[in-house]
Amino acid sequence: MAKKVLITGGAGFIGSNYVHYYVQQHPKDEVIVLDKLTYAGNLDNIAGLIKERKVTFVEGDIADQDFINKLFGREQFHTVINFAAETHVDRSIIDPHIFVHTNVMGTHNLLLASRDNEVKRYHQISTDEVYGDLGTGSKNYFTESTPINPNCPYAASKAAADLLVMSYYETYKMPITISRCSNNYGPYQFPEKLIPFFFKLASENKPLPVYGDGLNVRDWLYVLDHCSAIDLIVSSTKYGEVYNIGGHNEYTNLEITKHILRFLGKDENLITFVEDRKAHDRRYAMDPAKIERELGWAPSVTFDQGIKKTFDWYVENAAWSAKLTDRSHKALLSTKMEACKVPQKTTR
Ligand code: NAD
Ligand code: TYD
Repeated sequence: MAKKVLITGGAGFIGSNYVHYYVQQHPKDEVIVLDKLTYAGNLDNIAGLIKERKVTFVEGDIADQDFINKLFGREQFHTVINFAAETHVDRSIIDPHIFVHTNVMGTHNLLLASRDNEVKRYHQISTDEVYGDLGTGSKNYFTESTPINPNCPYAASKAAADLLVMSYYETYKMPITISRCSNNYGPYQFPEKLIPFFFKLASENKPLPVYGDGLNVRDWLYVLDHCSAIDLIVSSTKYGEVYNIGGHNEYTNLEITKHILRFLGKDENLITFVEDRKAHDRRYAMDPAKIERELGWAPSVTFDQGIKKTFDWYVENAAWSAKLTDRSHKALLSTKMEACKVPQKTTR
């Protein structure tokens, strides 16, 4: 049966990839994309789908309770998938308030409206960062039963949202699920996150500000493999469950940086070690055994295949990233470039 589906944050990086994926997988469903179009939201990402009337776009703020209540009262959604969030750790360190406002209050507005309008499935997009830091020297992975232990305001706001979602399952028996994914890379990622940021800087022969010693480890997943995992979850009959998503692709930031430089044929002297990020988690690594076992999920590409596709996309779509000139982004960028002028000594 055709469903009416609300995808929030569908003009951002992962959300817009998912909107494309969803429309392809479920052509009969009615898809409504809600997005505030912050600096990170870009309608160009889904412009073709809007033009072809495959999705309807609504501009709005999940933290605006009146607006959310009216929208839910009018539309009677079957499914709600919440990608909308403030997502950049560096910004959360500079200005945490908006992270609590959007990620906590916004999620709560969606939960309340979903409960009151008897939404049949609410899915929350979460992150491995809610688990905190695995540290070095262990071979441990985050599982779904790892205690929540966030360290930065972004991670804490996402953790708070997850706890609210779970509380709606326990208290109101709401049909919820949560997925927690590792770091994504792929098309449409805003060039403030490590991979697109360093790709852009290196292309322009600018210094790459590597935090601390560059040995922090992240577990990288191609964005469409995240999308396929979400789609399996929202198509399943599982409720009240958390699923970890990751592809066992652990790399240090320095390895990622050198990979970008090699692809672009640039010199490693662009690498500039700068002051470490505050509360910089040393290692994230996901154990995706539960989603593999219960839902049969598996990534479709290796890291080498996914990163090659991504780099090729950046080259072909240089104009896409050149258009993203937000004032707050410029300010953040100039702070990072200033940091490169006082490089920190480190042993490599
Ligand atoms: P993004 O920053 O690229 O996009 C976020 C989108 O949300 C933007 O389109 C923005 O306009 C919109 N938005 C922000 N505040 C809003 C509000 N108040 N109301 C409505 N829309 C609003 O983020 P992303 O990287 O695509 O992340 C999407 C989701 O996935 C987030 O919930 C994030 O926590 C989670 N996540 C991201 C990663 C990653 O590596 N990027 C990994 C795991 C989980
Ligand atoms: P990021 O892409 O911001 O994702 P997250 O903090 O959510 O994992 O950062 C990935 C890693 O890259 C993280 O360890 C911080 C590091 N990093 C830098 O060293 N320099 C930078 O300019 C940025 C943006 C990130």
